[in-house]
Amino acid sequence: MNTAAEQHRPPAAAYAQAAETAGRAPSIHNTQPWHWQVHPDRLDLFADTSRALPGTDPDERMMLVSCGAALHHAQVALVAQGHTVETRTLPDPAQPHHLATLVISGDAPVTAEAVRLVQALQLRHTDRRPTVDTPVSPEQVDELRRIAGEYGVHLHRFTPEQVSELAVAVSRAEDAAAGEPVLRAETAAWTGPGRPAGAGVPPEFIPDKRPETDVGERDFTARGALPVGGGHDKSSTYVVLFGGEDDRDAWLRAGQALSAVWLHATGQGLAVLPYSQVIEIDGSRAMMRRILSNLGYAYIVLRLGVADPDHPLPGHTPRLPFDTTATVDPE
Ligand SMILES: Cc1cc2nc3c(=O)[nH]c(=O)nc-3n(C[C@H](O)[C@H](O)[C@H](O)COP(=O)(O)O)c2cc1C
Repeated sequence: MNTAAEQHRPPAAAYAQAAETAGRAPSIHNTQPWHWQVHPDRLDLFADTSRALPGTDPDERMMLVSCGAALHHAQVALVAQGHTVETRTLPDPAQPHHLATLVISGDAPVTAEAVRLVQALQLRHTDRRPTVDTPVSPEQVDELRRIAGEYGVHLHRFTPEQVSELAVAVSRAEDAAAGEPVLRAETAAWTGPGRPAGAGVPPEFIPDKRPETDVGERDFTARGALPVGGGHDKSSTYVVLFGGEDDRDAWLRAGQALSAVWLHATGQGLAVLPYSQVIEIDGSRAMMRRILSNLGYAYIVLRLGVADPDHPLPGHTPRLPFDTTATVDPE
């Protein structure tokens, strides 16, 4: 139940809180490529191209997926404060980096589901360690598929043969990226010692050695310090989020679906690792399309597994200060 105090709070305070909460969203290389404008009557989401990855992500796919995840986080935060929300995505064709406008349209009782999602949002993280041997159940995958479907996004679970094809596509993407000095420099800039304060991926979150996993993990080039142990994970499940369009609207929806799926998975005790390099590189993205029998465009691949309860991760990756990622209208 939302409290009387929350109901009578000015909407600008609710928008500001939502924008702050959305800062916990996952993003490619932890670039946090979003900027919020908090107004008394609405919350606007912009892509911040000063934190884009022009070499790695020239079409801004992963920037839009990341911003879509932040958009979903903001929606979750507003609903958990007892509001109903109307969202317009890409409201102005003349401004392609204006990604969404959110408006509080009314009040509603806070459901248990809303509370679960906002709790999951505080716990969620990327897990690059091999998972334990317990498999993810078909029912859990079905539920994630249903959740992705709410955003018009499909979720396909790779068959064992397709996992082998995925491994080849990922390894080709890795080789292509390794051979491109511009891509290596960009990755190093966000994961090496010179990464910006409050952003990027610090060494504690990068494996100390290549984990033994069916589909090779991203090589961040930077030296990692996350102990991954020696086990080979045999029970991971690989899924892909995909859809019939390959444009900005679709990538933004894919990001919302990614966030919704990830928060639910977190609540279920599942570890999630995104693989986006296979989508970033043209040749391997085409391979993904063939694996999907040309039925759609792949947006992002996820490894799902049961998280190891005995080895919690070292806290959370850093975030930029609120006033870097948001501006608030003066009262
Ligand atoms: C669009 C997108 C693509 C990503 N791609 C990868 C990837 O290829 N490999 C990887 O290890 N992590 C990937 N990540 C995870 C980010 O590195 C991670 O979200 C970020 O460092 C923040 O950490 P957190 O998720 O633990 O909060 C991706 C995340 C997003 C949203």
